[in-house]
Parts: sequence; structure tokens; C-alpha cells
Amino acid sequence: MKVTVVGAGNVGATCADVLAYREIANEIVLLDIKEGVAEGKALDIWQKAPINLYDSRTIGSTNDYTKTANSDVVVITSGLPRKPGMTRDDLIQTNAGIVKSVTENIVKHSPNAIIIIVSNPLDVMTYQAHLTSGNDRMKVMGMAGILDTARYRAFLAEALNVSPKDIQAVLMGGHGDTMVPLPRYTTVGGIPVTELIGKDDLDAIIERTKFGGGELVKLMGTSAWYAPGSAAAQMVEAIVRDQRRVFPVCLQLDGEYGINNCYLGAPVILGKNGIEKVIELDLNDDEKALLETSRSHVSDVMTVLDGMSI
Ligand code: NAI
Ligand code: 2OP
Repeated sequence: MKVTVVGAGNVGATCADVLAYREIANEIVLLDIKEGVAEGKALDIWQKAPINLYDSRTIGSTNDYTKTANSDVVVITSGLPRKPGMTRDDLIQTNAGIVKSVTENIVKHSPNAIIIIVSNPLDVMTYQAHLTSGNDRMKVMGMAGILDTARYRAFLAEALNVSPKDIQAVLMGGHGDTMVPLPRYTTVGGIPVTELIGKDDLDAIIERTKFGGGELVKLMGTSAWYAPGSAAAQMVEAIVRDQRRVFPVCLQLDGEYGINNCYLGAPVILGKNGIEKVIELDLNDDEKALLETSRSHVSDVMTVLDGMSI
């Protein structure tokens, strides 16, 4: 299997590293626009192979898309990250131009690739990539839900003093402050989380999760990369190994949840064809209202993108 990661910055390099050391793909191409950076990081990852004992081959490319030809999966991480005080939506103009030109090159050299977007603002960049590629909606998706649920699960594990391995959760909506964690669908070793934690503590964890990206930007002056890079690699793994994992993923909703033509996170089955199935949960009225708020926000940002000449 051949996987390309575009953008050899913090998230892209981390994703390529996880793909290599976990042998998720045997051929990994890391591409960046900055001269030599992707080649350098790919070489460093390859030189780690004898230490960490893997044989996945990682090569770098400075904007030469011929090296990415016939990739099975492409992860797009190119674009500016947030700085303190910025929202993800502030990145739209610059990152939409980058995602558009990258997607054009990807589709030209790997017309059958399944595309995973990481660049922010995530939901609207997934829209941009889907528009540009013209691909089936089940083959162009965004990574956010795995990261957001991982943050939620990590906070819960800490509060309950249990292993994060045993916490299962699903989250819907946009990748931003309007995301919709779903405590009704959160379990700890099969036990509903509401039986183990009080409402106030759970609400505080949900609030922290919504602003989890911003918490890290404040601490580091830029956005996170270890969990985001690993989350993107986990999506690649589900596809290349046809695992049929159930993950929250951003995609164009086409009637599911009564929503049309909006790019939002929803639980799906991920396998060799990309999104194999969108799972429709039976949301209650409160959950539906939160999802509607999120849809309205993402639709507004999509309209902003529509008004730009990218
Ligand atoms: P970074 O600045 O470390 O890396 C971005 C890389 O993209 C740079 O190396 C840059 O040279 C490259 N790049 C820019 N234009 C390019 C082009 N036209 N072609 C190829 N490469 C190009 O940023 P970082 O931290 O890796 O974040 C990347 C993106 O991912 C940001 O937009 C960030 O907001 C987003 N992000 C999204 C997350 C999510 O949950 N969806 C989580 C974390 C970050
Ligand atoms: C994050 O949630 C900034 O989207 C990025 O870490």
C-alpha cells in the first residue's frame, strides 16, 4: 500500500512516523513545499527503522507530485496552524488556496486515492477538497472526531482513574466550539458513563473537550500534533487494512440526520472503500438542537468560502 502525506510540518511528520513504525503502509511519501524539509524528515524516519524495527520505506519530496503517483490514501495536512487568539475559521482564505492546489495535484497523479483532510478549518477544508476533487463523497473525509473523542476519553480516564483503553465515545458536528459530545453514547468498559460520574463533572469535561485544541494552542503557541497525527494514521490504517472501524469522521451529509450538503462529523464505518456506511443515531431533542447549532455554524463558514474567489 502506498500512502502520501502532504505537509511535512508537525502533524504531517507525526502522521508519517506513525504510519512507518506501525507498518501501516509499506511505501510512504512525505511532501512539502519547503525545499528539503520533507526529504530530511523522511530520511530521519527511515533511519529510525533499524532502531524501532520496521521496514516501511518513507521518502520525501519537495513539491514533486510524480513521486506520489498511484497512492492508495492521501492525508492533507498542509496549511497554517492556529496561533494564540486565532480561531480555526481565521485560517480559511490561506488554507483553502493551499488545499485546492494540493488536491488538484493529488487527483492528477492518484485519481483513485481516498483523501483525508486535516488542515483547518477542518469541515470547510473537507468541503474544498471534495469540490476540487469531484470524487465520491465517501472517499473524501476529514479527521477531527477521532482527535476530539480522544481528548474527551483522556479527560474522562483521568477523572475516573481508569485506563483510556476502556472508554468508548462518539461525538458529532463540526470541529470547533460547537462540536457535540454525546454522553448518552459514552461507556466505560460497557458501563454508561453517567453511572460513574456526576453531571457537573461530566459537563466540565465536555466543556474542556470543546476547547481542547485552544488549550494546547495557549500552552504551546501553535496547535497540537501528536494526537492529531496519530488520529489521521488511525484512519489510514482502517482503510488500508479494511478494518471496518467505527469512527466519527467529517463528511458531506446527504440526507443523514435530516441534513443536506453540509460537512459535519458523524459516526461511520471505515474500510477499504473509504466510508462504507454512515451510522444514523437516534438523537434526542437536546442532541438534535446541538447538532443544528453546529450545522448552522459550519454552513455559515461554507458560505464564506463560496464567496471567496479561491
Ligand atoms: P505546520 O506549520 O507545522 O505544517 C504545515 C506544513 O504545510 C508546513 O511544513 C508547510 O511548509 C506546508 N505547506 C504549506 N503550503 C503547502 C503546499 N502548498 N504544499 C505542500 N505543503 C505545504 O502545521 P501543523 O501543526 O502540521 O498543522 C497543519 C494543519 O493541520 C493546520 O491547518 C492545523 O490547523 C491543522 N490541524 C488540524 C487538526 C484537526 O483536528 N483536523 C489538528 C491539528 C492541526
Ligand atoms: C486541534 O484541535 C487546532 O484543530 C486543531 O488541535
